[in-house]
Amino acid sequence: MTSANAFPTLQKYLPITGDINLKTPIAYKATRGAARVVDALQMALAEVYINGLEIPDSVFRSMIHTSMPILFKHSPGLLAPYDWVLEESSGIAESSRELMKVQYDRPQAMLNRMLGDWDVIYPKYSTGFWQNGAANLEEAQRHMIDQVIERLGITDGDHILDFGCGWGCVPNYILSKFPNVRFTGLNLSHEQCEYMRHKMQDPNSYLSSGRFTLYEGDLNEAQFDEKFDKILSIGVFCHVGNLTNAFQKLASLLRSGGKVFIHIITVRIPNHMSSGFTHKYIFPHGRYWNYDAVPHHNRDLKTIDRWYMNGTNYHKTLTDWLERFDANQESIQHLEYGMDYAKFRRLWRFYLLLLGTIFATCDGEYNGNGQYLMVHA
Ligand SMILES: C[S@@+](CC[C@H](N)C(=O)[O-])C[C@H]1O[C@@H](n2cnc3c(N)ncnc32)[C@H](O)[C@@H]1O
Repeated sequence: MTSANAFPTLQKYLPITGDINLKTPIAYKATRGAARVVDALQMALAEVYINGLEIPDSVFRSMIHTSMPILFKHSPGLLAPYDWVLEESSGIAESSRELMKVQYDRPQAMLNRMLGDWDVIYPKYSTGFWQNGAANLEEAQRHMIDQVIERLGITDGDHILDFGCGWGCVPNYILSKFPNVRFTGLNLSHEQCEYMRHKMQDPNSYLSSGRFTLYEGDLNEAQFDEKFDKILSIGVFCHVGNLTNAFQKLASLLRSGGKVFIHIITVRIPNHMSSGFTHKYIFPHGRYWNYDAVPHHNRDLKTIDRWYMNGTNYHKTLTDWLERFDANQESIQHLEYGMDYAKFRRLWRFYLLLLGTIFATCDGEYNGNGQYLMVHA
C-alpha cells in the first residue's frame, strides 16, 4: 500500500484532521474537544470586537482568508462546535421564536435599508446571482429569481407555496411575470408579515392582486386546506434541523406530479457546519447543511437535479449589505435594538464581515448555495 492510500485509513485514528464521520471513538472525542477550542477562539474574537476593539476590515478579512481554507480542506470537523450540528433535531425548526427576536423582527427600517427595497424587488434576505453580469444588487436579485423560475419550471396558472417567504419579494416578482399564478406565503416574522400586509393594500404591488395569500405562522405547525403545484423555499433551511421531517411535511403539501425547489446555504465538506457566534447572536440553532445532505434524505421527496452556486455570489451580496448598513448609520442609529447602538453596530458588522468573507474563501468552492429540485419519492 502506498502512503497516499494509507492516509484515509490512518486519519480514522488521528484527531482533528480529515472526515469526522470516519473516526474511531477516541479520535472522534478528541476532534469534538478541538472543535470546542476553535469555537472558543472565534467567540473570544467576536466578543472583543463587539465590546469595542476595532479591527480594520482588511485585517479581519485576511485572518479569515488564512484560517478558513485550512479548516475547510483539512479539518472540517472543527467547524461543528456542537453535537446538534452533526445530528438531526427532533422537530423541524428549532428556537423559532428566539430566532425572530434576535434576527428577523429586528427594526425593519434597518433591515430594509440594508437589504434594499425597490419597486418590484422588495427586501430579499438571500443571495443575489451575480455571475450573469448583474450591475447591482437589485439586478442580481432579479437574476436569482429568474433562475428559480427556470429551474422549478414555473408555468402560468401554478399555485405556489413560498415556505419562509421573507418580505414577499419572490412572490411579488413572480406574480409580476405570470398573470395567472397564485402564491401562498408562510412566515413566522410578524414584522415581515406587517410589511406584506401593507403591500397587499398598495395598488402598485402585485401582492394586492388578490393572487397572494399570507399565513403568519410557524413552519413546524403549518397546515393548508389545498395542495400546491410547486413549492419553493429560499434561504430557510439553515433554520431547519430535521430534513426528514421537513421533507415529509413538504411532500404532504405537494400535489401529485408537483415539484419542490429549495435553495440553501451549503458547505462542500463531509459534515454540516455552524458557529458559536452565529448561534448566540445571529441565528439561534442555525446550521449549514453539507451539499449531499438533501439528496441523502429521500424518503418522502427525492432529488432529481441539483446545482452548486459559487460562494462569490453570497460574498458580493453580503458585501453590498455591509456597505448599505454602513452608509445608513445616520438614519438607523436611533432605532430600538435592545442594546446600546454602538455595540449593536459592531455586532452586526462582525456578522456581515464574517459571513461575507467566509463565502469568498477557496474561490467560493467550499461554502456557497445548494439548489435542489425534488419530486415525490
Ligand atoms: C433568510 S430569510 C429568507 C426569506 C426569503 N425566502 C428571501 O429569500 O428573501 C428566512 C425566512 O424564513 C422565515 N422563517 C424562519 N424560521 C421560520 C419558522 N419556523 N416558521 C416560519 N418562517 C420561518 C424567516 O422569518 C424569514 O422570512
